Amino acid sequence: MSKSNYKKIILDEKKIPKKWYNIQADLPTPLHPPLNPATNKPAGPEDLAAIFPMNLIEQEVSRERWIDIPEEVLEKYLIWRPSPLYRADALERYLKTPARIYYKNEGVSPACSHKPNTAVAQAYYNKVAGVKRLTTETGAGQWGSALSYACNLFGLECKVYMVRISYDQKPYRKMLMKVWGADCVASPSNDTNFGRSYLKQHPDTPGSLGIAISEAIEDCVTSKDTKYSLGSVLNHVLMHQTIIGLETQEQLKIAEDKADVVIGCVGGGSNFAGMALPFIKDKIYGDKVNVIGVEPTACPTLTRGPFAYDFGDTAATTPLLPMHTLGHDFVPAPIHAGGLRYHGVAPIISRVLLDKLMEARSVDQVTAYKAGVTFARTEGFVPAPETNHAIAIAIEEAIKAREEGKEKTIVMCWSGNGMLDLTGYEKYFSGKLEEYTMSDEEIQKSLASLKGYPKP
Ligand SMILES: Cc1ncc(COP(=O)(O)O)c(C=O)c1O
Repeated sequence: MSKSNYKKIILDEKKIPKKWYNIQADLPTPLHPPLNPATNKPAGPEDLAAIFPMNLIEQEVSRERWIDIPEEVLEKYLIWRPSPLYRADALERYLKTPARIYYKNEGVSPACSHKPNTAVAQAYYNKVAGVKRLTTETGAGQWGSALSYACNLFGLECKVYMVRISYDQKPYRKMLMKVWGADCVASPSNDTNFGRSYLKQHPDTPGSLGIAISEAIEDCVTSKDTKYSLGSVLNHVLMHQTIIGLETQEQLKIAEDKADVVIGCVGGGSNFAGMALPFIKDKIYGDKVNVIGVEPTACPTLTRGPFAYDFGDTAATTPLLPMHTLGHDFVPAPIHAGGLRYHGVAPIISRVLLDKLMEARSVDQVTAYKAGVTFARTEGFVPAPETNHAIAIAIEEAIKAREEGKEKTIVMCWSGNGMLDLTGYEKYFSGKLEEYTMSDEEIQKSLASLKGYPKP
């Protein structure tokens, strides 16, 4: 294929997509409904109304294929969007591969990751619904800082429960949250009943996203004018992120290229979904694109977790979600990719995997950092530890293309910038980074928390 030689493909801001894509309109198998754990019956909008505003609940259950992006949200998106699609030609030369590698740089947002794509939308819809304050959890701090940024844009208060291990490892993100006016505490914290009781039983816990979600939900339901905001997993969150893939498709047209392989790292699944779902739509209608989600071997939800009904949080307060999961009690090893330490994964991604519209692979953190360093030494930008997992598989695919002597186009979501995650790089260079692969025994033990719940 003749391909134009771009280093970066910039989409004119007048061409920014004006609608999000909702894959629920095209899924070959509809999603199983979330269940109310008290009745085991499908959870209705009223079951979610205590924690989310109705306008977002409507998006959560919508089957409309395209949803208009409100003007007020588009105006904020234009602060950093459309984000550039880069050609990683220096990495290609280093790998001596005939493959063309593109990366969509979501690290250019004010909070340095893809997370503001949904944070800005969620803050806007909450504001419109009359909400005054949002609570949330954060792993590495990328989501917490994105929501702090978005709340500041729309004049909302923000309280962030940050997983303790990241709170200690990554001091700068909590400062960033403060700069944008939010309040950030280490989770488990003394600010909630659940946090206090968990700390009593496990004083040395590194924390987990499941625990932090429980605290943020408790704070939400016990406070006035407050709602809760989730940075991944839910249908509406994934939909807000589809602007990534929609822009990428326009940019590939400008480069006169077409994706053969699409790659993203998977925590709860939002950046991967944002990039992949518009391509998966094409795949549903006959395109041959290969879509790969990459997770850490320390938290192998898609590659080794069963598809089951499970809670989104450790205190078992959310509706039961149909998803690949390691069990809501699972506390992952303290790997540096804090955003990938989640026991479950989005129901939409679980469905897409079950229907063989994507494949899942896992990478250990040492391999991921090695790939991140190779990327930084060729392309310059320092990736977030989460993003390194996607890069590792992009490199693997590029090497395969070299070995097979095949041209192909690899597109990855470069989900975030790692300038505030340098501690992990330091550990990598000093040889102190551990690989962490979950044993079968650990997985079986962790899955015990699924017993007694309905099966999808
Ligand atoms: C840079 C980055 N990439 C990826 C993720 C994983 O989240 P998700 O799977 O929802 O994209 C996170 C989460 O915090 C992140 O900060």
